[in-house]
Amino acid sequence: MPKAAVCKEIGSKLEIADVDLAPPQAGEVRVRLGASGVCHSDLSVTTGQLLQPLPAVLGHEGAGTVVEVGEGVTNLAEGDHVVISWVPQCGTCYFCARDQGELCEVGSMAIMTGGLLDTTSRFSLGGQSLFHMAASGTFSEETVVPAMGAVKISDDIPLTSAALIGCGVLTGVGAALNTASIRPGDSVAVVGAGGVGLNVIQGAKLAGAERIIAVDMVEGKLERARDFGATDAVNASDGNAVAQVQELTSGRGADVAFEVIGLESTVMQTFEMARRGGQAVIVGVPKMESRFDVDVALSLVMGEKQVRGSWYGSSNVHRDIPMLAGLYQEGKLKLDELVSRTITLDQVNDAFEAMGSGEVARSVIDYS
Ligand code: APR
Ligand code: ZN
Ligand code: ZN
Repeated sequence: MPKAAVCKEIGSKLEIADVDLAPPQAGEVRVRLGASGVCHSDLSVTTGQLLQPLPAVLGHEGAGTVVEVGEGVTNLAEGDHVVISWVPQCGTCYFCARDQGELCEVGSMAIMTGGLLDTTSRFSLGGQSLFHMAASGTFSEETVVPAMGAVKISDDIPLTSAALIGCGVLTGVGAALNTASIRPGDSVAVVGAGGVGLNVIQGAKLAGAERIIAVDMVEGKLERARDFGATDAVNASDGNAVAQVQELTSGRGADVAFEVIGLESTVMQTFEMARRGGQAVIVGVPKMESRFDVDVALSLVMGEKQVRGSWYGSSNVHRDIPMLAGLYQEGKLKLDELVSRTITLDQVNDAFEAMGSGEVARSVIDYS
């Protein structure tokens, strides 16, 4: 019986309980988690900002070892180290075939129902079924996931670092490498230097951006941003952030500006920070009812500004997870440095509280 953190209802703390886990069915694998990051989206489920059928085992940023494979699984074997993808990607649907696996029809349906690909769950507690957050449920010593949602990585990457690839790193680095079109020499602004923003910054650096301007309100976050490749820092609490970014880019604005917070106000600022003909890439997920007001004539048509949303870093997980793991092994991608502290599963509620502070980039549950 694995120990898991369960969200029973909106507004309550996660409950640590011994849950039942049914064996993997056809096309599924059972994974013993080595680590799980605690992401902002987990907290958003508990506050009701992010819709997720409840009660559920939360957690969606995990890595571990395959301990059992269901019938017909050919891509994975017992003992494989894997990163869990919270959008299982089938590789063959309309979207996957067009290199938009982050929108996979099969995976998206599973996420919405709260179950696995057949919409049912493998977790239960006292006979009551528990949903899996995002077809994963990594706040558990063990979980069962679709085999297409577990991607093999090399055995010699520490699982506490590998786990972060599954959400924050794919989302952030992918936004820079896949969603945006950054060219070598470009200037980039990144609004929000939290766990995901730091990864946009290191992705922009990998893409060859010359000037990387981090924008945040917490001084500690801006300092850490420099370690990840930011060349300039703008403290948004020192007056108009848009004007400060324009000043750093010869009055033009950035070639590419990213929003990595999820607020209506900063989405608008990010749009204004992008230069004429540049891109505003929205990574942060605002409230469902959020709207965005654009001046069509001047900015969109005559100014040729582009706005793009970025979901899960526009990633093909089967291609990008091994690619990012490889970059880490070559010393080109920082993962260890994202882990501010390791905790036990019982401390997960404390990790939610630590999110607001400047010291923590990511708390990571270490199951070992
Ligand atoms: N101006 C500038 N920075 C701000 C502002 C603001 N008005 N408000 C908050 N911030 C900064 C915070 O100080 C913090 O550093 O934004 C950062 C947000 O980081 P995290 O809380 O660590 O969130 P993160 O996990 O990075 O996720 C950010 O990306 O994928 C999405 O769903 C995710 O919407 C979320 C966003
Ligand atoms: Zn996440
Ligand atoms: Zn698909």
